[in-house]
Amino acid sequence: MQGILQFSFGNLYFSMKLTASSQNSRLLHKSRIIITCAKGIPPFLREEVLSLGLPVLSLGVASLETEGTMEEAMRLNLFVRTGQRVLFLLEEFRAQNPDELYSQLSGIAWEDYIYEDGYLCVTSSVDNPTIKDSRFANVKSKDAIVDRIKKKRGRRPDSGPERTGAVIDLYWKEDWCQVYLDTSGEPLYRRGYRKIPLKAPMQETLAAAVILATSWDGHGNFVNPMCGSGTLAIEAALIAQNVAPGLIRNNYGFMHLKSFDESSWKKLTKMAKTRTRGSFQHKIIATDISPEAVRAAKQNAAAAGVERAIEFAACDYSETPVPAGQGVVVLNPEYGERLGKLKELEETYKGIGDFFKKKCPGYRGYIFTGNLELAKKVGLKAKRRIPFFNSNIECRLLEYDLYEGSRSSGKGF
Ligand SMILES: C[S@@+](CC[C@H](N)C(=O)[O-])C[C@H]1O[C@@H](n2cnc3c(N)ncnc32)[C@H](O)[C@@H]1O
Repeated sequence: MQGILQFSFGNLYFSMKLTASSQNSRLLHKSRIIITCAKGIPPFLREEVLSLGLPVLSLGVASLETEGTMEEAMRLNLFVRTGQRVLFLLEEFRAQNPDELYSQLSGIAWEDYIYEDGYLCVTSSVDNPTIKDSRFANVKSKDAIVDRIKKKRGRRPDSGPERTGAVIDLYWKEDWCQVYLDTSGEPLYRRGYRKIPLKAPMQETLAAAVILATSWDGHGNFVNPMCGSGTLAIEAALIAQNVAPGLIRNNYGFMHLKSFDESSWKKLTKMAKTRTRGSFQHKIIATDISPEAVRAAKQNAAAAGVERAIEFAACDYSETPVPAGQGVVVLNPEYGERLGKLKELEETYKGIGDFFKKKCPGYRGYIFTGNLELAKKVGLKAKRRIPFFNSNIECRLLEYDLYEGSRSSGKGF
């Protein structure tokens, strides 16, 4: 049996012939798609999903619900900058306990989705009174899936914790289970360019959300003192050149499903490549006091293919060259988790206020920090305080308008 799948993206129109192996009726139809993200990010993810022409059905604390086909799930993996995992709903059912879970999962035709000689990982989020440890739910689910495949195909796939093959995600709350294909596999913040992470790097998806929160879109300069491993500058360069973040990586969960149609993925990536902009009129500047950090940031930028879009220098933040004109200056200083470092950091935050006032008139200044007491030392009044989370630490992106002759309000933060 063969079929034709048609969809459009912008003014480009796609029509694909579906082979017998990709004929999996469940995956050709629209289903609910959940995109997970870090807390604070849903409003930015919402804008991204809408700009891709997909509906936003609801926003959660750390997720967004949309709907679409598997093709659209692939598109989300390719283009979304701020999401972490794109989960495609496969089935939902009631299960009170692990035996009912096993029995319900055994009724799904896993042999149509997963290769018997492939590799499988099961992840879960469980809130059910019969389950003390979600790893038990993972094992029970994995057993149901591989037992079914063995029964139907005579051999069972390998399984384990690595998310490099097919990934199935179970969401089990009380007696309601939802089973998702994790089309991302490895989370999307692993873009694949950070070869040298250094200490306290920002997740790539968080860095992208921070840039979207500044509304910087490549018009104006992007100045990033204290660049560390370069994440903010690299994400800025990807945005400025309209590079789809998913182009950098070459492994996704959906590639390990039987439904994967390589030719349609190639068409999508080819189309994404035609939309990239080679040249960039403004400057992206990344500096750090540590020459080792600057070396790592350069290598990471090279791995992302954007090293030529960024000017690097090893210097104190206060010596960062700020081009005349307009743009944004974004700093992510340390927040001082260790006692004793705090006094030193107070001076640094105070110095950032002076740097903003003296060297950045005409720019919008931003500080991303998890320590609001330290932020008070900046001595400028923040115009906006945008909440984010870095791992479990509640953070703020503080925005300062830096007019010619900006002055301390005298009240600090
Ligand atoms: C929290 S890290 C930044 C992490 C970065 N956002 C990333 O994704 O890798 C802070 C950085 O500030 C740098 N730094 C500390 N004091 C500095 C100073 N006085 N001038 C310039 N850089 C400084 C450190 O070397 C470190 O790389």
